[in-house]
Amino acid sequence: MQLINGKALSETIQEELREQVVQILAKGKRAPHLAAVLVGENPASAAYVRNKIKACERCGFKSTLIKRPAEISETELLQLIDDMNNDNLLDGYIVQLPLPAHISEEKVTLAIDPAKDVDGFHPYNVGLMTIGKPQYLPATPFGILMMLERYGIETSGKHCVVVGRSNIVGTPMSVLMSRNTKVGNATVTLVHSRTRDLKEETLRADILIVAIGKANFLTADMVKEGAVVIDVGINSIPDANTKSGQRLVGDVDFELVAPKCSFITPVPGGVGPMTVTGLLMNTLKAYELYSK
Ligand code: GUN
Repeated sequence: MQLINGKALSETIQEELREQVVQILAKGKRAPHLAAVLVGENPASAAYVRNKIKACERCGFKSTLIKRPAEISETELLQLIDDMNNDNLLDGYIVQLPLPAHISEEKVTLAIDPAKDVDGFHPYNVGLMTIGKPQYLPATPFGILMMLERYGIETSGKHCVVVGRSNIVGTPMSVLMSRNTKVGNATVTLVHSRTRDLKEETLRADILIVAIGKANFLTADMVKEGAVVIDVGINSIPDANTKSGQRLVGDVDFELVAPKCSFITPVPGGVGPMTVTGLLMNTLKAYELYSK
């Protein structure tokens, strides 16, 4: 069993990004600029956004954190988005999800200029991805593809099972794993809460990508010997032995699943850091494509 070290890999790729920024600055140009909008006080969202801003600093990107109270109106948020769309010194931005219930995530996503949509969530970018002409890949699937590529994990001719059908991970991942490309050239099954015999499906997987958002959902009896397991989950569970009284675990029962795997990602230190790296790569691409 080999551990896929997303933390170390993202440090390597972020160092490559930093070198590219050094070269940009040496030409007298400005650094790429990412903004993150954080609405409300969701602690998990605040932590994710903090990681994104920190990564910008490491790579020499300019970053702007825009915090707004949970009571912000939809109109005010849409106005902020319009301002960011018109800011020529801003290359890309994200609006961290979830948003408070009174704000339509769909309206917000549609309002983002697709050229600045470095999350790759706008339907225009989803469409480009689906026809194999991606502009920005959604950050988590992008990060997973980079892990598979850099660890030399063959996908051609393999059977990939994606667990979960969210717009952010499961659905785009199933598309990207079934394209005629160097990485992701697999036969894909997408399973979800209404799949009749989920275990029968997961047992057929050479590559299992689990993004269902339930702690320790995937157990050892659901995994074929030698499978590659990618754990997208980040779940906080009670743990009396830690200072905070909580502990982060993935969607995979790591202790018992890991011995069966050829490769597996840990939580934390697996997919999470690669998501941040995917976002930075998209931001650099936005800068290269559209900065004036
Ligand atoms: N919420 C959970 N993951 C993400 C992400 O990748 N981007 C944004 N904007 N919100 C999220």
